[in-house]
Amino acid sequence: MNSILNAQPAIARPIQPREKLDFGLDGDIPRHWAGGDIFKTRFFDAMSTTFPIGERYFITSCRAFRDQIQDPKLLAEVRDFIRQEGQHGMVHGKFNDMLTRQGIDLEFIEGEIARHVKFFNDNFSKEFNLAVTAAFEHLTAMMCSTFIEREDIIGDWDHRIRAMYTWHAIEEVEHKAVCFDVMQKVAKVGYFKRVAAMLLVSVMFPLGIMRIMNRMFQADKLSLWQQAKTWAKGLWWMHKPGGAFLPAVGFYLAYFKPGFHPWQHPEMTHYDLWVNTLETSGSPIAASEALMKTFKAA
Ligand SMILES: [Fe+2]
Ligand SMILES: [Fe+2]
Repeated sequence: MNSILNAQPAIARPIQPREKLDFGLDGDIPRHWAGGDIFKTRFFDAMSTTFPIGERYFITSCRAFRDQIQDPKLLAEVRDFIRQEGQHGMVHGKFNDMLTRQGIDLEFIEGEIARHVKFFNDNFSKEFNLAVTAAFEHLTAMMCSTFIEREDIIGDWDHRIRAMYTWHAIEEVEHKAVCFDVMQKVAKVGYFKRVAAMLLVSVMFPLGIMRIMNRMFQADKLSLWQQAKTWAKGLWWMHKPGGAFLPAVGFYLAYFKPGFHPWQHPEMTHYDLWVNTLETSGSPIAASEALMKTFKAA
């Protein structure tokens, strides 16, 4: 298993928006594509349902400060961040269409997400909304730097979904500092507001994901007993020692250090391999399978 502790030292990577990648999402993807595991599949599916609206919210929160940015490098980074998040929303939107075909009420789920976003926009300052965005970006970078580096998590996924999430993870790592830099250098958000936003997101986001998963389990026609068993097994998978989340706790807590900056953390060990394979093959599937080969060789 790869740990973030033995990953490469942090180097800020160029933000490269990649468009028109073919993940094969039109293909015959199994309903429970994470090795047949309902909990793991629906955990990632639930996150996917939040991306189109969530990432639009991130873009809006960051764009609210664009006119105040003087540094041309940061301005260019903001532009590329917007292009990357726009693509993520589009690709996950396409993936989410598949969930609708499975009988999942995406209209209801997206309506709930939009309602929350509206509440935040109506009731909080644009500085706080940017702090919320920066907190989400840290959580995304945390998941990308841990989940996608672990064969025990992604090894039995359908190769097309693995390709989609690996691409998303790579780009999240590339732009992980953009909103943080705008928040600190331009919006001048201080430590307490940054931490308050992270605490709010840390409670609200997991609860929201669990609610969406619950709806998905109902669409999967699980009985109450099956749902209880699925939750118990899944929550243990997440929270057991060496499970999905505990190895990432250090990454998460680093955000609470007063002098924290996202590039203090190493990026993905396999970043260069993925980028080079995509460049030579043009295929995001070949690029993520190149990662898999290194797991198998290890
Ligand atoms: Fe994204
Ligand atoms: Fe992002």
